[in-house]
Amino acid sequence: MVKTAWRILARAMKTKSLAVNPRNIRFIGDNPIISDDVSRKNLEEAAQTVRQSGQVVAFPTETVYGLGGSALSDDSVLAIYAAKNRPADNPLIVHVSSLDQIERLILTKLKKLPIVYEKLVETFWPGPLTILLPVEEGSLVLKLCTAGQDTVGVRMPKHPVARALIAMSDTPLAAPSANASTRPSPTEAGHVMFDLDGRIPCIIDGGPCEVGVELTVVDGLSEPPMLLRPGGVSAEAIKQCGGGNWENVVLAKKTAGKMEAVKTPGMKYRHYLPTAKVVLFVGCGNGEKSVKEWVSRNSISDFSKVAVLRGPLFASAEELGLSGAVERDFGHTATEMAFRLFKLLREVDDLGVDVILVEGVAEEGDGLAVMNRLSKAAFEIVSS
Ligand code: TXA
Ligand code: MG
Repeated sequence: MVKTAWRILARAMKTKSLAVNPRNIRFIGDNPIISDDVSRKNLEEAAQTVRQSGQVVAFPTETVYGLGGSALSDDSVLAIYAAKNRPADNPLIVHVSSLDQIERLILTKLKKLPIVYEKLVETFWPGPLTILLPVEEGSLVLKLCTAGQDTVGVRMPKHPVARALIAMSDTPLAAPSANASTRPSPTEAGHVMFDLDGRIPCIIDGGPCEVGVELTVVDGLSEPPMLLRPGGVSAEAIKQCGGGNWENVVLAKKTAGKMEAVKTPGMKYRHYLPTAKVVLFVGCGNGEKSVKEWVSRNSISDFSKVAVLRGPLFASAEELGLSGAVERDFGHTATEMAFRLFKLLREVDDLGVDVILVEGVAEEGDGLAVMNRLSKAAFEIVSS
């Protein structure tokens, strides 16, 4: 197994895995009812931990696993940045479990969500959508969490474990994805353990995440409104939702220079990188011509060090002239590809391959989020 250099840093603590069964959690209003003792005890322990200043807990959401700490504590936010090795100018999304929490803890003056979000929130919350809210003067959400921006990103997750953890701690949780910075986002508890073992006190294991890529981030405070990061809710669904000026939503650009001031600071960092090099093939049909050319141009001879992620069109590794390569089914639809993307990148990387050849998908529906992540992960993009 390949270890990134920084993982070998001294391990300060033992990381506990706390099993919680999401199927045993239901809600009456915003209150979680947990029907098995182990899940209840483990969630209580995690809620207790995350309430403490300076403590963090990894937990499942419907998109990817998050690394949460109190958004109201500088020490907790610092602990998140430190555990992930994350640049401090990249703001964190605040996770809440109810609208009441937003009114009590985030919009203490305004009280109500800006009207532009009403329809979106009604349609997609709880769910994989983050909205940007204004940071009020004297806000309880601290500068460290927003990286000094005048907006704060807020999400209400649908995953019962995430919702229960936030409700039980009554703490809005600042939470980035629970991977080490630059690594693919984690969609299973084991991915978090691989990246952060010894660096955080505990991981709630609630099984695999349903969506597999991160959520959509929108800014309705700008005119026209902007889609800052495509994700679990598609651009088409946002346009159709109505309310405000959402049918004219503008897509932010995918990447930015290191010194460029951008709306989403996360855009300027390399992201989603396995150790192996990712080569993305766009519009290359069944891949035969483009993959064969790429392999010969790069003088690749040991195919056991090559992985192929086949989408709906790519031929088999053998037909691509790569007998002996690692081959994985990337899925037949963009939604399946989103679900499998990060898991497969980690899985084939762990087998010690040098390159991962990946079939791209059209940038529509969930394909937009898949291609956004893949183009950031890619060392090279080959288009026909
Ligand atoms: O699904 C997800 O998005 C996961 C789960 C845990 O919620 N979170 C996640 O967070 O992936 P993170 O930190 O890896 O990505 C959040 C993105 C970053 O690109 C960040 O720059 C952007 O959202 N963001 C957060 N707050 C923002 C703000 N106030 N203004 C603009 N962009 C913001
Ligand atoms: Mg992330």
